[in-house]
Amino acid sequence: MTEQKAMLQINDLHKKIGKHEIIKGLSLEVNKGEVFGFLGPNGAGKTTTIRMMVGLTTPTSGQILIGGEALSNNRKHVLKKIGAIVENPEMYPFLSGLDNLKHYARMQPNITKEDIDRVVKLVGLEHRIKDKVKKYSLGMRQRLGLAQALLHKPELLILDEPTNGLDPAGIREIRDYIRNLAKEEGLSVIVSSHLLSEMELMCDRIGIIKDGEMIRIENVHEQNNQNLIMSYDVNPIEKAEQWFKTNGYEYNIQDNQIKVKINKEDVPITVQALVAASVSIYSINEERSSLEDRFLNITGGVSHD
Ligand SMILES: Nc1ncnc2c1ncn2[C@@H]1O[C@H](COP(=O)(O)OP(=O)(O)OP(=O)(O)O)[C@@H](O)[C@H]1O
Ligand SMILES: [Mg+2]
Repeated sequence: MTEQKAMLQINDLHKKIGKHEIIKGLSLEVNKGEVFGFLGPNGAGKTTTIRMMVGLTTPTSGQILIGGEALSNNRKHVLKKIGAIVENPEMYPFLSGLDNLKHYARMQPNITKEDIDRVVKLVGLEHRIKDKVKKYSLGMRQRLGLAQALLHKPELLILDEPTNGLDPAGIREIRDYIRNLAKEEGLSVIVSSHLLSEMELMCDRIGIIKDGEMIRIENVHEQNNQNLIMSYDVNPIEKAEQWFKTNGYEYNIQDNQIKVKINKEDVPITVQALVAASVSIYSINEERSSLEDRFLNITGGVSHD
């Protein structure tokens, strides 16, 4: 048997609801052990696509392969390879986290006590697992949802906006668990969000979806070091400006800082020259990642809250 590299493969997926074509020929692949981000503004079609992946709704046309097997051919068998949080995971607030997991385990074949212990540990809920769920924070509930999704040892984890409604600490927690699951357990993960900043930190690759189409797939770790916008906080600013001007850099001045279009490799040269010209440098920051620029161009802007 040849090794199956793509854990999830989607080919030319379409979904029509009534006359409205919501997904228009979407294709993507998620490799083994990879965290793939599904990024797009509200209404782009993320949830609709994910609902098709987990068998909650059927595609109008196109193919979904999980571990090389078509979902449409053997639904029940193929869905066993998936763990998902799509709609809010259903929990009983008056039961403990542990009892919720036990209850869920009873509905699945072959789940042992060891499996439960394992997922509780994986999501770091050991100390609170006997508390009632109604006493959990939103982040803890999300973690319990993750534990539930992982209980039957899926190979592919599918999460629709798992950090929705969480505070920055909660977001960071979920992000760390997701990254860890991919790295330590070799799990493939597809995770949706409308927040680029979050996706950049969590994912290996990001697919940008707009109006039901995959517009672009970006590799997060392939850094683009050309044409960055660097913001120089320097004093005296006039002297620095003179230097950038003389040396042919494109720049403008905003908020008392000089924003310079520059390749990363040229930054040390500017530092040396400015210091030699007796300019004090307080900070140099990258204004905006090139990925962010491209995402905003593609989607026509998206909220960052
Ligand atoms: N059952 C439905 N009937 C009709 N239209 C639908 C249905 N479900 C979704 N849509 C439409 O499909 C489009 C995509 O919706 P979807 O929920 O997939 O977007 P999303 O990317 O998940 O957005 P969000 O970031 O807001 O969650 C939207 O225009 C939505 O109104
Ligand atoms: Mg959605």
